[in-house]
Amino acid sequence: MTLQPLFNYKLLLKSLFNKRRVGNNVLLKSGRIAFSYILSVIKKKNPQINKIILPNLICEEIITVSKTHKMNISYYSVDDNLNFNINEIEEISRDGNNIILFVNYFGFKFDWEKIKLTNNSNNIFIEDNAHVLKDLNQKNKSTFADYTFSSLRKLLPLLSGAEISSRNNDLNLIQSSRIPDFGELIYSIRSLKKKRSGISKLGHSLNNEDKNIMHIDYLSKYILDKYHFSYNQITSQRRKNFNFWKDYLSSSNLISMRSIDKDQNICPYVYPCYAKDDREYHKWLDWGKSNNITIIAWPKYHQDTLKCVPDNFLKKILLFPVNHQFDLSNIIG
Ligand SMILES: Cc1ncc(COP(=O)(O)O)c(C=O)c1O
Repeated sequence: MTLQPLFNYKLLLKSLFNKRRVGNNVLLKSGRIAFSYILSVIKKKNPQINKIILPNLICEEIITVSKTHKMNISYYSVDDNLNFNINEIEEISRDGNNIILFVNYFGFKFDWEKIKLTNNSNNIFIEDNAHVLKDLNQKNKSTFADYTFSSLRKLLPLLSGAEISSRNNDLNLIQSSRIPDFGELIYSIRSLKKKRSGISKLGHSLNNEDKNIMHIDYLSKYILDKYHFSYNQITSQRRKNFNFWKDYLSSSNLISMRSIDKDQNICPYVYPCYAKDDREYHKWLDWGKSNNITIIAWPKYHQDTLKCVPDNFLKKILLFPVNHQFDLSNIIG
């Protein structure tokens, strides 16, 4: 069982006779490309801005992109329930002229209300929705963020795709699409492979990301335009799988980071938890390998971030898959 949905050519065939969706979403290749584009727009409009404030629970890709744009990076802390420390953010951003990134980790929405109360007139906010499933047929909800981006292939069976949006409509992008690249085509036949544990290196690894390829690939765009995804069904199966892990792991020593019980609308990207010690951490990674279930150690930190990450739960987070293409109760007895 994989973390991310497997691409399925049948969806292309099933889309053939459907009407094309009308929408004005702008879709780029990936979350990191969208983030990079947002930074270039901000820098062009505000050449004085050269500071970015990021959570200390953040993947390598975001740091690499920030460094490409010559940003000075500061970090704020995230606790083991995925809440950020607003006092710390206020302290670091007091002088203004910062870009501040907030992440809706694993589909759990953070609380904008806390941010609205701070003195933030001179800062620019980016909302990272890479782990959030959004129905593209629905209009963008107004958000406090100046810019937002997502990463569609993390929750839908696509080869690429990331929605990018701006509150002030200053992106100046025209929707276009391109032929899938070699990595994506290889990724598309991943579902035919039998054994699939561990992290796939194909598709969007840092090294094969060509910054000149900006747009979503043609196959993924076609599916998004014409296939009728059932967002309710996807959410419901993902929630079922999430609760499966909650029960299955209740007798283990793993500590759950969040619950979905209080909010029926949450569509989880994964079941996030952390291990108390290294032994438990490696035990579950090995368990995933021997059971052909992709459990990942997240995030892969950039070496610069590692210096700012305390030696606690932040280095022992495990993500268990809730991919809606599988029903865990049929896989694990
Ligand atoms: C929180 C977060 N933001 C952004 C990204 C980048 O998204 P993508 O893989 O689509 O480039 C990732 C994944 O790598 C992520 O986990």
